[in-house]
Amino acid sequence: MIRAATLLFSLFAFSSANASTVLITGASRGIGLEFAKRYAEQGWNVIATARSPEDDDALLALASAHENVRTETLDVTDHAGIDTLAEKLRGIAIDVLINNAGIAGGRNTQEFGTVDYSVFNDVMNINVLGPLKVTEAFIEHVAASEQKKVINISSSEGRLSQVRGSRQAFYRASKSALNMVMKNVANNPTIEEKGVIIGILTPGFVDTDFTAGLPKQMMIDVETSVSRSISMIEKYNTEMSGKYFSNTGEEMTW
Ligand SMILES: NC(=O)c1ccc[n+]([C@@H]2O[C@H](COP(=O)([O-])OP(=O)(O)OC[C@H]3O[C@@H](n4cnc5c(N)ncnc54)[C@H](OP(=O)(O)O)[C@@H]3O)[C@@H](O)[C@H]2O)c1
Repeated sequence: MIRAATLLFSLFAFSSANASTVLITGASRGIGLEFAKRYAEQGWNVIATARSPEDDDALLALASAHENVRTETLDVTDHAGIDTLAEKLRGIAIDVLINNAGIAGGRNTQEFGTVDYSVFNDVMNINVLGPLKVTEAFIEHVAASEQKKVINISSSEGRLSQVRGSRQAFYRASKSALNMVMKNVANNPTIEEKGVIIGILTPGFVDTDFTAGLPKQMMIDVETSVSRSISMIEKYNTEMSGKYFSNTGEEMTW
């Protein structure tokens, strides 16, 4: 398997055979784009996926500035598309798969009394089923790598033990559900046998489009968030698989 992966690596102009490879979902902007930038600068082979990379100027600029960055189309709700991309990339070992793509679902749509029920499926499809399907589809790519890490970008908003206030019920529920689903994946015997590490990581309160309109005093910039996350991803090991960490290294209660 490893020899096949090495052979296929050489077929891709973007790749460097000795470098590690990361695949990122939702790399068009925000935290995902910053992950792509930082790993590119560190010399990794970066597979930056987005719903419509041909329209994402910042991502296109990154790819044209770094030959170790390739863009691929991936909508995490399109399960057939996920399988197609996994097949296209068959034989490429992916050291770190980052399930980053996510939506909040709007702030006024999830208030008790005026709930827009149609939002629930969108939030769950993108934030929970998307990461699960991407992980299933790419598990052999990850298992064939050196580092074997699947990192899920969760949120402290998903912590049932720490709920404060009443807001964004669907978003909060989606991150609790993501945590449970990924804990369950981590406990799966085939995942343990393959030695795949399942990370569940919170990025902090980050200044991106996601938090537009919220008070900035408590926010960190995206560079700081991703720098911390990359340090945590480096630390993730088999003992930490299925556990929930902040990107500053604190193990979180669920
Ligand atoms: N910012 C924070 O404070 C914060 C805190 C905790 C957790 N998080 C989590 O961090 C992750 C990234 O957040 P962010 O702040 O970077 O948000 P963002 O700036 O709004 O970016 C969200 C990304 O997700 C992508 N996306 C949305 N739906 C998608 C789909 N169906 N398929 C593929 N990609 C899709 C977007 O692509 P398009 O450009 O095509 O829309 C975009 O690239 C999310 O999972 C979020 O829940 C963020």
